[in-house]
Amino acid sequence: MNARFDPGLRLRGRVAPPADKSISHRAAIVGAMASEPMRITNYLDAADTRSTLDAVRRVGALVERHDGEVLIRGCGMRNAQPPDEPIDVGNAGTLMRLMPGWLAFQQGAAFTLDGDASIRRRPVDRIAGPLAQMGAQLDATEGRYPPFTVRGAGLHGITYELPVASAQVKSCVLLAGLATDRTTVLEAIPSRDHTERMLAGAGARVDRRATENGGFASTVGNADELELETVRVPGDLSSAAFLIAAGVLVPGARLVLEGVGVNWTRAGFLRILERMGAIIVGELEEPGAFSATEPVCDLDISHGPIEATTVGADEVPLAIDELPLVALLGCFAEGETVVRGAGELRVKESDRIATVVEGLRGLGADIEALDDGFVVGGRGTLRGGRIDTHGDHRLALLGAVAGLASQEGVEVVGMEAAEVSYPGFAQDIAALAAA
Ligand code: S3P
Repeated sequence: MNARFDPGLRLRGRVAPPADKSISHRAAIVGAMASEPMRITNYLDAADTRSTLDAVRRVGALVERHDGEVLIRGCGMRNAQPPDEPIDVGNAGTLMRLMPGWLAFQQGAAFTLDGDASIRRRPVDRIAGPLAQMGAQLDATEGRYPPFTVRGAGLHGITYELPVASAQVKSCVLLAGLATDRTTVLEAIPSRDHTERMLAGAGARVDRRATENGGFASTVGNADELELETVRVPGDLSSAAFLIAAGVLVPGARLVLEGVGVNWTRAGFLRILERMGAIIVGELEEPGAFSATEPVCDLDISHGPIEATTVGADEVPLAIDELPLVALLGCFAEGETVVRGAGELRVKESDRIATVVEGLRGLGADIEALDDGFVVGGRGTLRGGRIDTHGDHRLALLGAVAGLASQEGVEVVGMEAAEVSYPGFAQDIAALAAA
């Protein structure tokens, strides 16, 4: 499906962005592991997070949906049942990398996971390694890719230093760590800590602390059961980021985004934008904070001029999914915008260094790829044209925002990719333009 996004809209008013994808996945998985029913309000209704509800159903959890709420009656920590057919994770990398942490301690049971063509190109050796150290086995295609089978076993605790900054890998090890005396994950650069917060809320022993070298350590201990009555999922900052960029770039725009999750380990994009001189008002969480809850606020965005900036490796995990937008903003900023230390972008739903550079260049941008990022020459404007999403939701939304801010508009080829995280984007823009 192709969709056109044209300039000239007057974007004004209030909108609640879709619910957080990362937190929705975690709520469904933790709900499935829990012994008492969990009520999830504002669960994301999109393709990725429907895959997670289907996946937990397949292993024995009961899932009911009523008026935008999801009720999960879990199977308990150690009672997941292997289905006859492979568990289909669809396009959801987070589901594919988190759920094996739980399945790894279903002793004597084997679970096969598979997904769409894009998921079959995404590596799982990064979780196979630590799970093997803990005593489980993960057999992957060519040792690296889905489909793969997790064979559950009795696990022992490890201290695992993350070789790549990845919240998905960290979360997988921590979920598996719930069946060990003590498991610690060390990260040189902090990544999103939604799993730690939710597990703490569900009664697990969780310790999250800064380390001497500027990194972070997360430790979990054995949990016989998890219990969390209600989770309210905040608005997704990564989806809101597309509206924020539209608010900054479209002349005359003034938007209020309601109920956005501003956990500091997710809010790197807002700090990058502040540095670029964008006008954003909201009560952000203090860097370094940790609690069992997720902070939420309204964000007030106004159009205005922006300056170039440099984003280095230490900021990358805090803004990983928003880096394509930094490239787009760089096109409009004064000066040269550089992103480095972001090689992980190459193993997302598409190779996001290649697809962002090719996509924006096709719209008239001055942008060069680096091995681990990109360099963008600010021209204060973008011509427009056509962009291919390569089936990647963030590319679809990037193209849409580029169109709203461009001179000639953008045709997005493959807009249906946005279904996995933000199905209602075009409607939200239409509502803001009509306000
Ligand atoms: C996610 C972590 C990030 C991010 C992804 C969601 C999560 O992936 O890109 O969209 O929910 O934990 P990595 O952990 O692989 O960096």
